[in-house]
Amino acid sequence: MYRVVLWGANGMAGGEMLRLIAGHPDLELVAAVSRSKAGSPIWHVHPHLRQEYSQDVFINPEEAFQREADLVFLALPHGSSWQVILPYLEKGVKVVDLSADARLKDPDDYIRWYEKSHGAPEILTESVYGLPELHREEIRNARLVSGVGCNATCSIIGLYPLAFEGLIAEARLDLRVGSSEGGASPTRGSHHPYRDRTLRVYEPFRHRHLAEIIQELKMPEQAFTMTMTAASIVRGVQMLGQIRLTRKLREAELWKVYRRYFAEEPFVSLCPAKPSHLRFPDPRFVVGSNRAMTGFALHEDSERLIVVTAIDNLLKGAAGSALQSANLMLGLDEKQGLEMVPLYPV
Ligand SMILES: NC(=O)c1ccc[n+]([C@@H]2O[C@H](COP(=O)([O-])OP(=O)(O)OC[C@H]3O[C@@H](n4cnc5c(N)ncnc54)[C@H](OP(=O)(O)O)[C@@H]3O)[C@@H](O)[C@H]2O)c1
Repeated sequence: MYRVVLWGANGMAGGEMLRLIAGHPDLELVAAVSRSKAGSPIWHVHPHLRQEYSQDVFINPEEAFQREADLVFLALPHGSSWQVILPYLEKGVKVVDLSADARLKDPDDYIRWYEKSHGAPEILTESVYGLPELHREEIRNARLVSGVGCNATCSIIGLYPLAFEGLIAEARLDLRVGSSEGGASPTRGSHHPYRDRTLRVYEPFRHRHLAEIIQELKMPEQAFTMTMTAASIVRGVQMLGQIRLTRKLREAELWKVYRRYFAEEPFVSLCPAKPSHLRFPDPRFVVGSNRAMTGFALHEDSERLIVVTAIDNLLKGAAGSALQSANLMLGLDEKQGLEMVPLYPV
């Protein structure tokens, strides 16, 4: 058994990490860290985990540092993770950080996208972006792997086959997102009375996850226009991309490109062209699982393309990808503990 410590365990992504760790045959939770809930039973915050953690309580950071661990998951807000990453790296413990603190390679990007300079830019040279679909071999050998932005993951998975083939001239991305993206603490924008039944557009052009999309697709910022829409769902992200291709393509060529990139991926699949109502993925098709689904349609002018991808933000967009990376770092089967079938209907 590998011993794992989880920080931010009382939060939204932390709760999902706890659920995955409970179902993983090779991981043993040795500490669930929370400053505000230290001493309280885990299941008082995450009631669905009553059975799995009936005797376990949250512990404080000081105590957590005393516990021996093979790997640490950090589900902390960005800007606070790096302070925890450093001591663990010094002790030789592997780290998967779900925040943005290890995602971007260029320290200046933190000033541009997060409006603050990075507290420990030296970690960026060794951290690996934690999307196994793009960095599987580097993740296997890494000590520090970042988590992924959920909106970035949804967009990157839908677009990387096209981007890596040099097929995208311009992409307009509309991300439709669920309320769990906002974390466990309510704000005026995320509190249920204001958030429910919403169709609120926000963050035109400058959503922070665009920094990851540009970095990972190796494309210029000018190629993208990105908007976010808060949708009336709890879990799920859907990316609707309107793409202008760099050259005219036949639909059969696009199927070939997507099939080639997705063929070996255990958690990525393509929607069939028919029946038409299943051509594009609804987040409901993947919620509760680590899966990503993509569908596309080519305009008759052969130059304009609609691509739609859906994921569960708390799984493939957060805890699922984090566990997939941790499995690789520990030399385990990357699917271990992640083969849940989606819930439907939800
Ligand atoms: N929600 C998603 O869909 C999603 C998707 C992808 C990635 N992520 C990333 O995952 C991380 C956690 O997100 P979340 O949605 O789970 O947030 P959250 O619900 O607000 O939970 C974060 C937890 O971190 C702890 N914390 C806050 N400030 C801290 C600090 N300075 N030092 C130590 N602990 C601190 C808090 O617990 P205590 O105050 O009790 O310690 C809090 O419960 C974020 O970086 C986020 O970007 C989230």
